[in-house]
Amino acid sequence: MKTIFEKTNVGAITLKNRIIRSATVEGAADQDGHITEKLISIYEKLAAGGVGAAITSLFGVDENSRLFPNIVKAYDDDFVPGLSKIVNKAHAHDCKIIVQLGHFGVEANPDNGNKPLAPSDFMLSEDKSAKSMTKEEIQSVIHSFALAAERCKEAGADGVQIQGSHGKLLSQFLSPYFNKRNDEYGGDISNRAKIVFEVYAAIREKVGEDYPIWIKINGEDYVDGGFTLEECLWVCCELDKLGINGIEIGGGIGIPGYSRRMSSSDKEGVFAQNAIQIAEKVNASVISVGCHRTPDMIEEWLNKGKIESISLCRPLICEPELPSIWEAGNRKKSKCISCNKCFDVGTGFGCKVFK
Ligand SMILES: Cc1cc2nc3c(=O)[nH]c(=O)nc-3n(C[C@H](O)[C@H](O)[C@H](O)COP(=O)(O)O)c2cc1C
Ligand code: SF4
Repeated sequence: MKTIFEKTNVGAITLKNRIIRSATVEGAADQDGHITEKLISIYEKLAAGGVGAAITSLFGVDENSRLFPNIVKAYDDDFVPGLSKIVNKAHAHDCKIIVQLGHFGVEANPDNGNKPLAPSDFMLSEDKSAKSMTKEEIQSVIHSFALAAERCKEAGADGVQIQGSHGKLLSQFLSPYFNKRNDEYGGDISNRAKIVFEVYAAIREKVGEDYPIWIKINGEDYVDGGFTLEECLWVCCELDKLGINGIEIGGGIGIPGYSRRMSSSDKEGVFAQNAIQIAEKVNASVISVGCHRTPDMIEEWLNKGKIESISLCRPLICEPELPSIWEAGNRKKSKCISCNKCFDVGTGFGCKVFK
């Protein structure tokens, strides 16, 4: 019988409990993408609030990767001392730090003013379109993921997570909805997943056999013509053979205008059934994210299958201290009503309902 508050091994990292903070864009870097005291204090608060590990917000891997300037640049050497400060603050509370490395693809606003890069030409809106990546650009992004991971290791982070979900660049490659390529990076799932396998291999080569590498991936895209559960199962099994340590299962396309499938506060563990199916097939630790709100239901999901841990995003925006409240015996439901108003980080990071 698994319980939330017990020591456990998740994705080759020992955690004090089974609650992880899922990646959450804070927009709290400075205008040049450097880590600020404000950002450090967000992680210190999360760590003091009792999570076993915090996965950082998506940190951009290269100059084409970021959505807006206040997203952390993982491609700048200043990044290492800033990240070390986050890690040290978190470790003081026995909270591990896993850095999410990613690229916004079609949504990105490249630092150089160029068009966003994507698997295929894509019109995001009337005034924003992305350009199909050349093979050189694909190789360059793979290399940038590896260099960024090396910096995370140097800074003392406990592991890295490849952002492969929610319609960001690697998820766009996986998804036939976005990926219309007819070279070896498009077509059937073994081609669409090639970039993900190459990112994994390039990171592994830089960080060594023992360093934890996780991925966040959609169990399904939930768009017509998108990435399916069957394809996800195949990709996860292949990554498992390659040696991935942790797999976080989310879902949906996190681009305005697409369904996120996470508006309801009633259905707890909205992607957990997919996570259970994937956990059946892999040796890597599987983490379920999406509308986990009560400790009772979390423990129910943990014990329905081989899910090792669950992760929370919005509940911890609302109440970073929630894990400690639960651990102290108050097993209340998270205050979060899943209204998604906090997606508007442009007006500041935080819950827009309960201040
Ligand atoms: C404000 C906000 C920012 C987010 N930023 C990221 C991110 O940087 N990377 C990512 O993979 N997911 C991101 N997500 C998705 C969450 O990690 C999570 O998968 C989703 O919110 C479902 O979990 P929840 O019901 O616990 O909120 C974000 C979600 C929100 C609300
Ligand atoms: S703004 Fe809404 S979704 Fe976001 S943390 Fe607050 S209640 Fe939850």
